[in-house]
Amino acid sequence: MKKVTLTTLRKRVDSGEKLVMSTAYSAIESRLCMSAGVDFMLVGDSVGMTHLGYENTLPVTMEDMISHTCAVRRGAPEGFIVLDMPFMSYQESDALALHNAGLGMKLTGADAVKLEGGAEYAPLIARMTGAGIPVMGHIGLMPQRVQVSGGYKIVGRDEAGAEKVLRDALALQEAGAFAVVLECIPEELGKKVTEALAIPTIGIGSGKYCSGQVQVITDLLGLMEFKPKHAKRYLEGGEAIINALRSYANEVKNGTFPAPENTFQ
Ligand code: KIV
Repeated sequence: MKKVTLTTLRKRVDSGEKLVMSTAYSAIESRLCMSAGVDFMLVGDSVGMTHLGYENTLPVTMEDMISHTCAVRRGAPEGFIVLDMPFMSYQESDALALHNAGLGMKLTGADAVKLEGGAEYAPLIARMTGAGIPVMGHIGLMPQRVQVSGGYKIVGRDEAGAEKVLRDALALQEAGAFAVVLECIPEELGKKVTEALAIPTIGIGSGKYCSGQVQVITDLLGLMEFKPKHAKRYLEGGEAIINALRSYANEVKNGTFPAPENTFQ
């Protein structure tokens, strides 16, 4: 398989294809995404909730992101992988942000980084892209600011909020971001931003007009109890796994596992 690059993704968008992005946090998940034809993968800081058992993304560290991104790369050597910059890995200073983003790419083989934030991060994004680090923006609902915003809320329903989302998107593009995640904004605003930008918009809870979609893999596979409104379960994975494990436990207890075909003589 040929390595997926920014040029590959750009060509897909230019030919009118929607981009498909899924999160992945482990080698098995990235291998499955590649086999399914997912265009590119995000090692999201959502790993904090999906795999590390935290209540939100705030406790996730750069070390967590490096470890999971290395695993994702091992499972998908040709995949295009975006490493999500975790809370406080880039907010403190541009120097720290450049150091962490560079280290993240060097140690994991990630193709790009993503960070949450609007126009206020445009100078940083310009420095990163200038240094050779491809950056994906992330605006709308920004989970790393959940303590400030007071919860996970739809952004841009009012005129001022909508104007800010559009302004931020244009600033990120101007700074050199190669794409921007639009999280939980109204569909019409998603359309307006997508039409205003030359770079692709990747929506999550932002309607069908975005250039592509990103979803959290555990939502797609039905592995978490909570189901966000924007997500669709393509598999009731949690239920299927519980049933499988229950069958295993029953068979061990009633002596039907291991059977002769599982046994060495
Ligand atoms: O961490 C994550 O999974 C994300 C997506 C929701 C875009 O940032």
